[in-house]
Amino acid sequence: MAGAGLEKRRMDKIECIRCGPLEEPDPSSPFCTACGEPRVAVPLVRPGARSIREDRPLALEKFVDFLPLEAVDPELSLGEGMTPLVSLRRVGAALGLPAVRAKNEAQNPTASFKDRGTVVAVQKTAARGIRRIGTVSTGNMAASTAAYGARAGLETFVLLKEGTTPLSLRVAGIHRPHLIAVDGDYGELFRASLEVGKKLGIVFMNSVDPHRLAGYKLTAFEIFLQLGRRPPGMVVAPVSSGGHLIGLMLGFQDLEREGMIRAFPRFVGVQASGCAPLAEAFRAGSQRYERPMVVRTIAHAIANPAPPAGNAVLRLIREREGLLLAVSDGEMLEAQRELAEAEGVFCQPESATTLAALKILAASGQIEDGNGEIVLVLTGSGLKTPGLLEAAPLELHNVSLEGLEEGLARLL
Ligand SMILES: Cc1ncc(COP(=O)(O)O)c(C=O)c1O
Ligand SMILES: [Zn+2]
Repeated sequence: MAGAGLEKRRMDKIECIRCGPLEEPDPSSPFCTACGEPRVAVPLVRPGARSIREDRPLALEKFVDFLPLEAVDPELSLGEGMTPLVSLRRVGAALGLPAVRAKNEAQNPTASFKDRGTVVAVQKTAARGIRRIGTVSTGNMAASTAAYGARAGLETFVLLKEGTTPLSLRVAGIHRPHLIAVDGDYGELFRASLEVGKKLGIVFMNSVDPHRLAGYKLTAFEIFLQLGRRPPGMVVAPVSSGGHLIGLMLGFQDLEREGMIRAFPRFVGVQASGCAPLAEAFRAGSQRYERPMVVRTIAHAIANPAPPAGNAVLRLIREREGLLLAVSDGEMLEAQRELAEAEGVFCQPESATTLAALKILAASGQIEDGNGEIVLVLTGSGLKTPGLLEAAPLELHNVSLEGLEEGLARLL
């Protein structure tokens, strides 16, 4: 009996983000069979009884009441979360905006926000005694899943697109997962991995996954704490599959339900104009996106022509009066340089889309006075894409040892 009770506690409560709890034929699918929107693993502590435990060291422990975890195993953590919320004073002043901040997700263990979702999924998988995990990714999620798989001693399978850059392969490969390059439609791989994984006993934790979404809520809780238990006025984040943005919004929704915030932040989702199905649908006032014919952008990490949670993002943004927009490769690279030069923050171009978008909104008068704090979520580190640095201006001065003083004096 005790065993059955434990098993029950280990069972997840997974709800559709739109329909709520539903009896469904396939509880292991990340999507609701009624409406097609993503499902999220819900907290075990009931609404109204959740509190933040600020004195605990790990982000997972501080916010455990809001997570689908009955306990946290600190051994499986790599110290993810509680990333700094740094002010961007110079960048803000240049735009006439006094309160712009960056949530620097590059400071996660594998240098991107993905660790927040991975750690929750791995905690859950390990607690259920499952020994095999996998993911479909060419970049940040591959590295994150491989690292946490290694940490937990799990056998990890990373499915990659053919032609993945050698650096991405190495960054994930250092943790010794099975790396499998798959020839075929990469979009189809998302569903195929779940089907095959179920047969072979491999739990695939892809970009839209009930536990990943739950993990991404942590960012919202941290921003709330770091602002002195207040919500920001605006949150700007890059969007690809949609999992991250939805997780952020669910986090603020939890705080709202708990009565901890009254105003809901305005959400701005940003895409690259070379692959912007959601921004285009939003502009057209459409409730469903269309797959672009051609994808052309340097922002590979956010270039998903068929985002699995795309229509859910469109609905949530519409309901919460947010915005979706696209920025060009040039605009994101310029914003990346600006963050590095003016603020000392070096993020991926995909993450710099947030500043590029803020500049567009500020220039077109779309940011009202009294908007409150504006938070740019810088999702990943610039060190992940060294190839793109070649375009950045670089001035090198050559001097001899004897001529050092003169050389430096010339630069004063
Ligand atoms: C750096 C970076 N930013 C943003 C995203 C978008 O996240 P999502 O696919 O959850 O929308 C990704 C996804 O891989 C990413 O790597
Ligand atoms: Zn549903």
